[in-house]
Amino acid sequence: MSDTSKSGRGGFASSLGFMWAAAGSAVGLGNLWKFPYITGEYGGGAFVLVYLVCILIVGLPLMYAELIIGRRGGKDILGALRDLTKGAGLAGTLLSWLAGGMAVLSGLLILSFYAVVAGWAVHFFMLSVGGLDLGEGAGETFGALVGNGPVSAAWHTLFMAMTIFVVTRGIKGGIETACKILMPTLVGILSILLVYVAFTGGLGESLAFLFKPDFSKLSGDAVLEALGHAFFTLSLGMGVMVTYGSYLKDERHVVRDGFWVALLDTVIALMAGAVIFAVVFSNDLEASAGPGLLFATLPGLFAGMPGGALVSAAFFLLVVFAALSSAISLLEVVVAYIVDEFGVPRLRATLGMGAVIWLIGLASAFGLNMPVFLPEALGGGQAVLDTLDNLTTKYLLPLGGLLIAIAAGWMLSKQDRESGFSALRGNGDRLVSSWTFLIRFVTPVLILLVILKGIGIIDFGD
Ligand code: PFF
Repeated sequence: MSDTSKSGRGGFASSLGFMWAAAGSAVGLGNLWKFPYITGEYGGGAFVLVYLVCILIVGLPLMYAELIIGRRGGKDILGALRDLTKGAGLAGTLLSWLAGGMAVLSGLLILSFYAVVAGWAVHFFMLSVGGLDLGEGAGETFGALVGNGPVSAAWHTLFMAMTIFVVTRGIKGGIETACKILMPTLVGILSILLVYVAFTGGLGESLAFLFKPDFSKLSGDAVLEALGHAFFTLSLGMGVMVTYGSYLKDERHVVRDGFWVALLDTVIALMAGAVIFAVVFSNDLEASAGPGLLFATLPGLFAGMPGGALVSAAFFLLVVFAALSSAISLLEVVVAYIVDEFGVPRLRATLGMGAVIWLIGLASAFGLNMPVFLPEALGGGQAVLDTLDNLTTKYLLPLGGLLIAIAAGWMLSKQDRESGFSALRGNGDRLVSSWTFLIRFVTPVLILLVILKGIGIIDFGD
């Protein structure tokens, strides 16, 4: 049945192409911009440790769950869940609608602010191309940019146009082709920067900051942030991996591919952190500088390098590329939903939904605040960008992940559930039973605890 539903939807040309696309979705602003600044804000090592644990016992099992559901279901997130949870009756249908609805909402909201931050990277790229030595003044330049609505909105518009363009071209000709070029280049440039800071100093201190845990700095909020970030950085909880998995022709290696994607994502985040904190420490800057960290610190490194403006341009171009390969996956979840559920042609679905997201994004670009009459939990009076980031990362994605874990662990047939592991030789059986245990018990319970703690229903002390 799933085969007929897959026909005519297009798909990845190869398993490797799928891997680049999935890795392209995972690796993005979350790794280069967000991971370093939240690690700085939460004091380093202990936060990194919790984040790594979250990746391992929550992220990875969920990544498998999403890929298996997508590959088996062969449709958008709602359709795939609905088909595969039929055995669970009404509960399955309700869960599918809830998870599907939340996924589409998360896609709209995340991409709206993501494109604004990516737009800032486009601006920094253009400044570097223009030969501007950002150096010491980068912090002020960034501050001025964030405060300038029309300029932020213009770059946001350009970035959304690029995202829409790729998605209109479909899976093989658009998403796969783009990611196959973008991802290896990104790894190359980041490696060069890492080698450079290894010679110019600060790397030792940076690694100590990242890997020496100081548990006195670990608060309950840090745990919530770490879990949320594990979702965000691996693109989990809103059906990206379900959607990409549905375009995969070969189901034999979803587990292996998922592992490499998670590993690559984690390594790239740690590399980005190592580079950025090396610059922070060798220039006496603040590790806890917040969202401006990437934009304010790295230009200082580039300024001291031979051909600095060029390196700076190359780097910010890569930030844009990394963001683009993630942005297209966010849009694709929404587009696949419209195409598969309502039969709207891809072009029309992409343009329509792209326009809606662009419009929502203007609120972040212009630095607007949420209406003051809203309760504090919904960001009343706070900046739209921060509120959407918080709401989606800390709540919507983990909640979506919880539903997906319940579906995979409890509602799928045994055959569907174990399909992703069938090609594993050797200890495949052990892996299936460990994964089943994690996705049934550990992952959902951990997510639930952290969400309840986040909304203040339980308190396990700071
Ligand atoms: N994983 C991306 C990043 O780390 O930048 C962001 C992202 C993409 C989040 C897709 C969620 C998502 F569904």
